Amino acid sequence: MSSTSQHSSGTIARPPRPAIGPSELARIPHPRGRDLAGDELQAFVIELAERPELWIDFVHHNTTQRLYTELLSDRHLTAWLICWMDEYDTGFHDHDVSAGAVAVVSGSVREERLRIDGPPRDRALRAGDSFHFSAADIHRVRHTGVDPAVTLHVYSPPLLHMGAYVVGEDGVLARHPMSHREELRQLGNPR
Ligand SMILES: [Fe+2]
Repeated sequence: MSSTSQHSSGTIARPPRPAIGPSELARIPHPRGRDLAGDELQAFVIELAERPELWIDFVHHNTTQRLYTELLSDRHLTAWLICWMDEYDTGFHDHDVSAGAVAVVSGSVREERLRIDGPPRDRALRAGDSFHFSAADIHRVRHTGVDPAVTLHVYSPPLLHMGAYVVGEDGVLARHPMSHREELRQLGNPR
């Protein structure tokens, strides 16, 4: 990695050129010339997970922070590899206009979907598991277990903005707009 920039307490790594170039991307089956829906993104991220030669060089663990590497960015897709530290928690967030999909390639994480009328709907995800979400979904992902985790994330249209959710001391839920360059981190009361 030729350049690394610090954002909050997370590190976003940018390979000198997209880690996954057009020729490698062409070998991963996916619809062309348009944005992808959630189920199409899930199929894509599963294919990506099965090609570790495209991302294994970017797996690095750090005990104090979550590490991000942008693997791919084009007109319709972005892909990220994330290495999770112990107990890391994104807090509840949305993905603005982007749908997305996640594949766990090592370790384990837990995903929660925000519900107003009860506890979050959650599910445990281990290596080999994947899921997708739409732009309408609000979720939270956190590291679980004792082993480091590695996850692959794809978004369409490319992720540019997110919203982070915080419950204030008065119990009012607020959405904080964020750039995708900022690190998601649990803020305030996680509810
Ligand atoms: Fe997310």
